[in-house]
Amino acid sequence: MIYLDNAATTFPKPDCVIDAITDFLKNCGGNPSRGGHYLSALSGEKVFLCREELASLIGVDTPEQIVFTKNTTEALNLAIKGILSRGDEVIISSMEHNSVLRTCVDLEKEGIILKIARADSRGIVNPDEVLSMITNRTKLICMIHISNVTGSVNPVREICSIARKNGVLMLLDAAQSGGVLDIDTSCGDMIAFAGHKALYGPMGTGALYVRKGITLDTLTEGGTGSFSESALMPDSFPERFEAGTLNACGIAGLYEGIKFVKREGVKEKEHELGKFLIEQMSAVRRAKIIGSPSVGVVGLSLSGHDCVDVATRLDREHNIASRAGLHCSPMAHRTLGTITSGLLRFSTGFFNTKEEITATAYALQKVLEN
Ligand code: ALA
Repeated sequence: MIYLDNAATTFPKPDCVIDAITDFLKNCGGNPSRGGHYLSALSGEKVFLCREELASLIGVDTPEQIVFTKNTTEALNLAIKGILSRGDEVIISSMEHNSVLRTCVDLEKEGIILKIARADSRGIVNPDEVLSMITNRTKLICMIHISNVTGSVNPVREICSIARKNGVLMLLDAAQSGGVLDIDTSCGDMIAFAGHKALYGPMGTGALYVRKGITLDTLTEGGTGSFSESALMPDSFPERFEAGTLNACGIAGLYEGIKFVKREGVKEKEHELGKFLIEQMSAVRRAKIIGSPSVGVVGLSLSGHDCVDVATRLDREHNIASRAGLHCSPMAHRTLGTITSGLLRFSTGFFNTKEEITATAYALQKVLEN
């Protein structure tokens, strides 16, 4: 199998991640922060270490400001719903995933005003356009870093700087960029991560970094293992936002995943493979790269073929995994003019090889010619 659907989730996972999950389940399975016994402390330590590792990846020394979530969607929901109240304006880009679009549209019924900055044909937002939309009611800007449809990269540092100069908070959707691009606090006041993509953790892991001093409403209430006598959620990070038992087993795997990313030079490899993927796909006849990819995500429009049919044939006839359709990002496809046809997407990960990419381009050409 040639797996080129790493933008959906990376596969395979490194052995160190698999071993850490197995070890957790065999030797370490207490409930973190829910008991004074050894196994609870052991699993609490894994969670703490992972917080520290993720904090260090973005260059902050406040690991308690990292909140674990089940995925990027939950992290984005927490940030968006936790910040906005009636009358506030939020600016998003027209390349946002449904995780942001649906969340913001849902808030419109509660009196939040949604504004959408249109990206250009490359899938990139102009910071001046964002600036022109800010008013004294704008509370939040939310921006996707790497498009999951085109692989194009938004100028998020520039947009974050504009946000700060205007007293607006910046939320970065780093679902595709965590582990692939350098991310630090100049990219956002809040940063939403997927643990299971280029941080190489398992599914069911995600995180939200929240700059110290930002206050958020909770998304979920419940037990935290602390201040149990009170009927109110504690004020302190991160427990205020981590009601209920954490996916500590997944987080133990994510801890090893982040260390793997740092140790193995994942970023460099992803960039090299991404460049090669773009080159190879540019040469396929009857396929056209849409937008302006600069990392290992390429969306192709196919002339005379349905992209879902082609993805199915690649899977059945050539054992190649891709993703076709709208990628949960209909607004991005509307922006690019591909809402009716969708796109065929290939996305690389650390374990791909150039040979696999060459073989995929060859197989795609064959399918398109038949
Ligand atoms: N948002 C993920 C993707 O683009 C699942 O495939």
